[in-house]
Amino acid sequence: MNNASIRVRLTLWYGSALALILLLFAVALYLVMSRALREQVDASLDEAAAVAIRTLGEHRFGPFLIFEDLSQDFPEIALLDKFFQIFGPAGQVTIQSSNIQSREIPLSQTAFRASLEGQSTFESVQFKNGVPLRLLSVPIRQGEQLVNILRVGTSLQPTDRMLRRLLAGLYIASPLALLVSLMGGWFLAGRALRPVHAITQAARRIAAGDWSQRIQTPHSNDEIGQLASTFNDMIGRLEVSFKQIRQFSADASHELRTPLTITKGETELALRRPRQAEDYRIVLESNLEEIDRMSRIVDELLFLSRADLGEIKLKMVSVQLDDLVREIHQQASVLGKERHIQTVLNAVEPVIIQGDDLRLRELLLNLVDNAVKYSQEGQTVELALVVVGNQAKIIVQDHGIGIAPENHTRVFDRFYRTDEARAHSAKGTGLGLAICKWIVDVHFGKIELQSTVHGGSCVTVFLPMTSVKA
Ligand SMILES: Nc1ncnc2c1ncn2[C@@H]1O[C@H](COP(=O)(O)OP(=O)(O)O)[C@@H](O)[C@H]1O
Ligand SMILES: [Mg+2]
Repeated sequence: MNNASIRVRLTLWYGSALALILLLFAVALYLVMSRALREQVDASLDEAAAVAIRTLGEHRFGPFLIFEDLSQDFPEIALLDKFFQIFGPAGQVTIQSSNIQSREIPLSQTAFRASLEGQSTFESVQFKNGVPLRLLSVPIRQGEQLVNILRVGTSLQPTDRMLRRLLAGLYIASPLALLVSLMGGWFLAGRALRPVHAITQAARRIAAGDWSQRIQTPHSNDEIGQLASTFNDMIGRLEVSFKQIRQFSADASHELRTPLTITKGETELALRRPRQAEDYRIVLESNLEEIDRMSRIVDELLFLSRADLGEIKLKMVSVQLDDLVREIHQQASVLGKERHIQTVLNAVEPVIIQGDDLRLRELLLNLVDNAVKYSQEGQTVELALVVVGNQAKIIVQDHGIGIAPENHTRVFDRFYRTDEARAHSAKGTGLGLAICKWIVDVHFGKIELQSTVHGGSCVTVFLPMTSVKA
C-alpha cells in the first residue's frame, strides 16, 4: 500500500468509503421499505376488518352469515388478496371466504387467548405450501361475551416479491454505482495529480541539468497551483544563484590565472640562462607583487565565502566614527602621496555608532583606496562625516575616472571591474565593493553611488546611529 501511487490510494480510499455508504444506504433502504410495506399490509388488514365487522353488525352475528351476502354488499371484500374467516366462540371455523378454498388455516392459541381477553392479534405465518401470510384476528363481543372471532388474512407474496425486486435492484445497481464512481474517482485523481506529475518531470529534467525548466501552471491558486508556483520560484532563485556561482568561479579562476601566468612567464624567462643578481632581484620583486595580489584575492574570497556562510563574527562596540574617519584620512594621504593625490577632510561631526571597529575601518579604507586609485594624478579626494537624522553619513568623493550609470549596481558584484578601471589601474581585485556592501548590510546601513564617466564618483554610506546587532 505504501508503494502504491497516490492515485491508486485515493481511488481505493474513495471506493471503500463509497462502498460503505452504499451498503449502509442499501440496508437502510431495505429496512425502511420492508417496514413500510408491512405497515401498509397491516393497515389494509385493519381496514378490511373494520369493513367486515360493520357488515357483520348489520347482518347480526350468528351462524347464518353467508359470505356471498358480505361480498355483495362490499365488493372489495371479495376481491383478490384478502380472505375472511369467522370463528365461533370456541375457535371453530363457521364461515370463510371462497378465495381461501379448502385450505385449513386454524386459529392459533395465541390469537384465541388474546380474543378471549378482547384483543386483536397480528400474526405472520407460513402456509402449508410455503406462501407467507399475514393474519389479523379481531374478537367480536357482545358485552363481555365473545361471540365470534373475525380473521382477515392476506398473502405476503406481493410484498415479498417487491422487496426481492428491490434487493435485486440494489444488488445490481450498487456495484454499478461503485464501479462508475471508482472510474470517476480514478479520472479525477489523475486530473488533480497531473500537475504533480508535471512537477516531477520538470524536477527530473532540472536534476539532469536543465535549469530553464519551469512547470506550466494552470492559473489557479489551489494547493497544486501554489506548489507549482513555489517550485518555479525556487528553481528561479536556484538558477540565478547557480549562474552566479558559475560566473563567480569563472571570474575567480580568471583573476587568479593572470598573476600566475605572469609569475610563471617571468620565472621561466629568468631561468633560461644565468643572470646577474640584480636581474633576479627584479624578477623576484615582480613575482612578489603578483603573489601579494593573489594572496589578497584569496584572502578577500575567503572573507566573502565565510561571510556567505555566516561565519564572520562581529564585535559590536561603540565606535567613535569621527576619530575613525580622521585616521582613514591619514592613511588616504599616505596612499595618495606617490601620485600627488591629496585627501581633504571636510566637515567631521562627532558621532558614536554601534559597530565592528575593524570592519568599519576596512569599509572606509576600501572606499578611499578606490577614490585614490581611480583618480588622476594631482586630483583631490574629499572625505566627510555628517549626521542626518539618526544616521551617520560618510561621504567619499573623488574627481577621477568615474563609473558609467549602467555599471552603478554591477560594481558591487564580485570581481566586477569596469574596463576603464582595468585600463587605469592593474591593481585591484574587484572584490572590495562587494565586501563594503556586506559590511554596510550587517550594520543595517545603506551604500549609495553617484558617478559619471570622467566626472568623478561619490560614495555615500549611511549607518544608523542606534544599530545594534546581536
Ligand atoms: N571611486 C571610483 N571611481 C571609479 N570607479 C570605481 C570607483 N570605485 C569603484 N569603482 C569601480 O568599481 C569596481 C569595483 O570596485 P572594487 O570592488 O573596490 O574593486 P577594485 O578596487 O579592486 O577595482 C572597480 O574596479 C571600478 O571599476
Ligand atoms: Mg577597491
